[in-house]
Amino acid sequence: MEEFLESVRLVSRELERYWFESISGSTCVVNQLPIRAITDELNLKAHLETGGLTGDALAKFVGRYLSLSVRLHHPGSLAHQVAVPHPAAALATLIEGFTNNPMGIYEMGPAAASIEAFVIEWLLSKVGWTSVPCNVADQPDVSGAGGVLTHGGSLANLAALVAARSRFDNSVWARGCDGDLAVMATAGCHYSIARAAGILGIGAENLYTLPDVSSVLEFNDQFAIVMQRVRLAGKRPFAFVANACSTATGAFDPLEGIARICRAHGLWLHVDGAHGASALLSRKHRHRLNGVESADSLTWDAHKLMRTPGLCTALLVRDARTLDAAFHQDASYLFHAKVQPGFDSLHRTVECTKASLGFRLFLVLAAMGEKGLADYIDRQFDLTREAYELFCSIPGLECPVEPQSNILCFRVVEGDDQMQLSIRDRLLAEGEFHLSTAVVGDRRYLRLVVTSPSTERADLQRLARRVLQMVNRHTDAGSRHAPERDSFDES
Ligand SMILES: Cc1ncc(COP(=O)(O)O)c(C=O)c1O
Repeated sequence: MEEFLESVRLVSRELERYWFESISGSTCVVNQLPIRAITDELNLKAHLETGGLTGDALAKFVGRYLSLSVRLHHPGSLAHQVAVPHPAAALATLIEGFTNNPMGIYEMGPAAASIEAFVIEWLLSKVGWTSVPCNVADQPDVSGAGGVLTHGGSLANLAALVAARSRFDNSVWARGCDGDLAVMATAGCHYSIARAAGILGIGAENLYTLPDVSSVLEFNDQFAIVMQRVRLAGKRPFAFVANACSTATGAFDPLEGIARICRAHGLWLHVDGAHGASALLSRKHRHRLNGVESADSLTWDAHKLMRTPGLCTALLVRDARTLDAAFHQDASYLFHAKVQPGFDSLHRTVECTKASLGFRLFLVLAAMGEKGLADYIDRQFDLTREAYELFCSIPGLECPVEPQSNILCFRVVEGDDQMQLSIRDRLLAEGEFHLSTAVVGDRRYLRLVVTSPSTERADLQRLARRVLQMVNRHTDAGSRHAPERDSFDES
């Protein structure tokens, strides 16, 4: 134990260095060496053979590991929807690793299970749903909302569609699917929805997506057209998936209108809020999710906008009974009549062994407070808006849509798709900025996900300037995209 505690002390110092280097932006945001170079640099084979990696040697190893890792706390970290973890949440993962209490069965982790129940109840209250009492398993007729934490938005989306399918036709679980079921969704739904349709035997081809629409009226028209196609194909649609928000552009679907239509057609409405449900914490931005309280289920990732390390996703349902009835299982060593002071949640998820996910989110909440987290979300959304205004004001850059979250797409007007990709590659190689790209409409755009609390307006100004410098060099037309002084003034 002494050895472990000394290792924790030494490794903490390495983490401290990593943290300061990252937030100051004094190192590369990404250091992407070839896989062979990394395994050699970390001397993996030798450590495997000799063992005994503790103390100073371990700290040195961790130092090297960190130097080869992506730095999400870096101001130039703008690529993906990955939470910049709060140190408090990292502590949770340490404690979790130490205790290893898989808590889907109450007796296997009562503290973790209680925290999960508490976190779920809090999340439900943010949606506007009232949780059933904890001991609902003993009172199956009590109605109310419920949920479970699961390892990621993809699994939550899958579980939501299982619940929807079970409500629609409970016989499919045992009998299998006749190939006549269909799911509908708005444009740009996450790929995990098509995957879920594939996994569930519904068939990815039986996912019918609406084209991109800009108003509820247009949505109504498109819905009618697609619904007719579904019916003509002889399919039985049972669920509709809406984005809150979409992965590529961060746009929210008009949930109120969609909920109304789903109700009229008896469709289960699943809101994929993996990224954007966290806006429910913000007074300023929660209106984007108006109508979510009418949905049947909601996916909400804490490991995207809630400073919580991956993975930690909530699957929430308006009626807990739908989730309780979704999966069927038979395992005499886990499921049997029991008298216990808590309740099991294992029957609500795909996983059997499950980490203490609620602990991660709870320690973030306990460190930042609800308001601290809401302020963080407001800051990132507002900064993204500033980036949009800045990029729109610069000749040579354009944005396809106004941002509604912390995701922003932009492109070099005169460049083709390949040029946008080359710009990203060059930025990545330089190491100051890490961006992603996405196709919107029929064009590829550079894509920012403004998640790091260290990113400032000045960093976004420097990014725009660097992009234009690259373009000017590429086109050899030095003055054509000369930055407007006002736009780039960092003062
Ligand atoms: C809208 C949406 N849904 C689902 C997912 C998948 O979530 P996870 O990565 O937690 O599986 C993502 C991931 O980016 C997403 O943006």
